[in-house]
Amino acid sequence: MGHHESNYQPKWAIEKWLDERLPVIRMMSDQFIVFPTPRNLNYWWTLGMVLFFFLIIQIVTGIVLAMHYVADSGLAFDSVEHIMRDVNWGWLLRYMHANGGSFFFIAVYIHILRGLYYGSYKAPREILWLVGIVIYILMMAAAFMGYVLPWGQMSYWGATVITNLFSAIPWVGDSITQLLWGAYSVSQPTLNRFFALHYLVPMILAVFVIIHVWALHVVGSNNPEGLDVKTKEDTLPFHPYFTMKDLFVAISVLGIYAFFVFYMSNYMGHPDNYIRANPMVTPTHIVPEWYFLPFYAILRAVPDKLGGVIAMFGAIIVVAIIPWLDTHPIRSLRYRPIARIMFWLFVATALLLGFLGAKPASGWYITASRALMVFWFVYFLIILPILSRMERNNDKLPGSISEAVLGKSDDAAEAR
Ligand code: HEM
Repeated sequence: MGHHESNYQPKWAIEKWLDERLPVIRMMSDQFIVFPTPRNLNYWWTLGMVLFFFLIIQIVTGIVLAMHYVADSGLAFDSVEHIMRDVNWGWLLRYMHANGGSFFFIAVYIHILRGLYYGSYKAPREILWLVGIVIYILMMAAAFMGYVLPWGQMSYWGATVITNLFSAIPWVGDSITQLLWGAYSVSQPTLNRFFALHYLVPMILAVFVIIHVWALHVVGSNNPEGLDVKTKEDTLPFHPYFTMKDLFVAISVLGIYAFFVFYMSNYMGHPDNYIRANPMVTPTHIVPEWYFLPFYAILRAVPDKLGGVIAMFGAIIVVAIIPWLDTHPIRSLRYRPIARIMFWLFVATALLLGFLGAKPASGWYITASRALMVFWFVYFLIILPILSRMERNNDKLPGSISEAVLGKSDDAAEAR
């Protein structure tokens, strides 16, 4: 992975034996113990580990839930109630899985915003960024299909709305939609294939997480100053400095998560999903899970169906190609005051779109959604490229990471 020399020394005979055959311990030691990590990483760099924890939680609880869940449109809803009432600790498994999904998205949104703020997508981390986007898309696919499984009203109608979007694609749209359904509407075959895919997608996602960390370890972490690592002084070994920092945050977040699991178990869900799916009764407002709301607002902001679908996917594509839109030589927004203001306007836009996505698609809600959608695209496609050329280089930029942490070299020598 990384380009640094390995300094792992097998201690015991068995370690040496293994090292000559499959150097896994050497790899772990090189990549996760002594791995040189920028010494100035702040708490925003701990979210990667938090995400990793949630991925494990989702997979483990999901596998056990699957042992009791029945993917039959006549039985699915009851099988979930059976899990909640009869299966030992079933309620815990289910609440952990449902709230875990939400926490996974909270963590990933913070993780992505961290990347946007500190310019972590810039060279040489473009592939790392793109792999992240693939992971995000897989997360959305997995979450969407998982939400369909309890076969409640929101499951059913959410699936109906989203699968119907594909029918807007010219020529092949209807065929694609029928392929997704396996029928002529959302029904039994749809549920069965969504269950199969909901199990499969996280496994693919896990493979991409390994590639993500691989790509990260080839180039090393970016850092709050956005400066390259130049000397050994700029780094600290990953263990114990960052293992402990990550663990501290992961355990704190798990505490908040536990609070939701035990005391606010359904806070982030929709009450209508406790009503059995009924193809004859459409809910008054069909809303997706909270983490999809900004994109849902964009989808509905465009009066044309195909246009809405294009805008929604376009909103993700512009995030994916940001390494080629923001080409300013300074990575961290700490040293780019104008880009920093624009960044916070973008965050406000995303939050407001999320708010509007939960409102009815009428009146000023729609007008506001349109204006904010336009800003979303203007930010990526116009503001960032213009600032890349116009924003002055900042003379406050420190010379190195160790200088930023320890002060100029004279002071640093004293401090030591
Ligand atoms: C399952 C989801 C994910 C997991 C488990 C994960 C894991 C990690 C880990 C462990 C790190 C190193 C620690 C850190 O910087 O926080 C990292 C860094 C990074 N991730 Fe992710 N990640 C996920 C999703 C994403 C997504 C969706 C994106 C962007 C679209 C992304 C972009 C990045 C970037 C750019 C870095 C490098 C940050 C830097 O060095 O400044 N990741 N990720």
